[in-house]
Amino acid sequence: MRIAMIGTGYVGLVSGTCFAEFGIDVTCVDKVQGKIDRLLKGEMPIYEPGLEELVAKQVKAGRLSFTTSTADAVRDADAVFIAVGTPPRRFDRAADLTFIYQAAREIAETMQGYTVIVTKSTVPVGTAREVERIICETRPDGDFDVCSNPEFLREGAAISDFMRPDRVVIGTESARAQEVMRAIYRPLYLNETPIVFTGLETAELSKYAANAFLATKITFINEIANLCEKVGGNVQDVARAMGLDNRIGGKFLHAGPGYGGSCFPKDTEALLRIGEEHGAPQHIVESVVKVNEERRRDMARRVIAACGGSVRGKKIGVLGVSFKPNTDDIREAPSLYVLPLLQAAGAVVAAHDPVAMETAAQEMENVTWCKDAYDVAAGADALVILTEWNEFRALDLGRIAELMHEKRICDFRNIYKPEEMESRGFSYISIGRPEILPAGDIRKRAKA
Ligand code: UDX
Repeated sequence: MRIAMIGTGYVGLVSGTCFAEFGIDVTCVDKVQGKIDRLLKGEMPIYEPGLEELVAKQVKAGRLSFTTSTADAVRDADAVFIAVGTPPRRFDRAADLTFIYQAAREIAETMQGYTVIVTKSTVPVGTAREVERIICETRPDGDFDVCSNPEFLREGAAISDFMRPDRVVIGTESARAQEVMRAIYRPLYLNETPIVFTGLETAELSKYAANAFLATKITFINEIANLCEKVGGNVQDVARAMGLDNRIGGKFLHAGPGYGGSCFPKDTEALLRIGEEHGAPQHIVESVVKVNEERRRDMARRVIAACGGSVRGKKIGVLGVSFKPNTDDIREAPSLYVLPLLQAAGAVVAAHDPVAMETAAQEMENVTWCKDAYDVAAGADALVILTEWNEFRALDLGRIAELMHEKRICDFRNIYKPEEMESRGFSYISIGRPEILPAGDIRKRAKA
């Protein structure tokens, strides 16, 4: 079995490498020469735990190779996966499918013998059908079938998500293509991973529906957290009580500063667009998108309120700028909203992130990038935890307290306990949990 993987982004590089781990010969293609040069030297274009080692292992085993030539990769492939980027278009934010269709044309021109062409990037409903039309048009004699095989992997856990998925979704109308796809996913099939065979459109929609549902779950608990703050409840206990109901499940019920990343914001918006286009408006997801956008901004307001209503001239230290831990990705991260709003309110911002500072420095201006959390805390009037990196979970709080100008922590990922903060004399706010202020502050507030 031979596979060509077009595109070496998160999805393409991880999927290609994992297919090689399944024992398949994989050639990954990317148009960007520099990216292929780096990969040939064993350097990863993205930060993903475990990927570098797995790539090296598969290259050494002779099952994984890299090239800029689509033709070379496609010629002898049994299946060609399209995993190229679909960035939002500047003018209307709809997914730009130019690279997908361009890949389809190139594949059509060089494929030989029966070939299964698989769309793996998340694409609007109808894209696989259009790929089929383009290939038919370019090679009316071509012996091929088209499949939609959406990828559900999470950044930071991409390899384990690929190797041990909850399910594999394969959309195709051809029994012959089903057999090829079954052979490709054989190791998972043997592990009893559910494989859901559907039509093209259903497979495409499954991905959007899954991501929109998860985004909805997060947004739901975020709003419940707001209510907890008003009534003196604890959102972590509410989430646990809810999640123990098997029909609900405990995952994706961590209240926080709002979801971000390369998928949820883009996919929820895309689902709204698809719904509108087909006359089936998605009202729930529409609210989710609005509430989440507002929430990320609201985090900045919370910091300002915690600082007594103004941050003008104050130093605000930020811990974590990536949209979640274990990634250097800052796309749609809460930090992109919170930091500029604090700066606009007059704050001087210092920040640290274990891996995302380089990417963040290209997007954010006037931020002092610090070597660690203690450097960030030095002289700060407030410390804001935006990403729950492990290294922020066990800070030496005594040292932090000594370094800070004002002992004030805004923990938007709930990684500390209010009681612990109280005992150390911090003024501490978190998400959806009763606020515990140092005794002096409580009396001051009562007097006010
Ligand atoms: C997501 C989907 O999980 C994955 O299946 C899909 O293929 C791509 O999109 P990813 O964007 O890598 O994966 O990250 P994920 O771990 O799902 O987190 C997304 C966002 O939601 C992050 O900003 C995270 O902080 C936030 N989140 C997640 C919460 O705020 N609370 C939660 O309980 C879970």
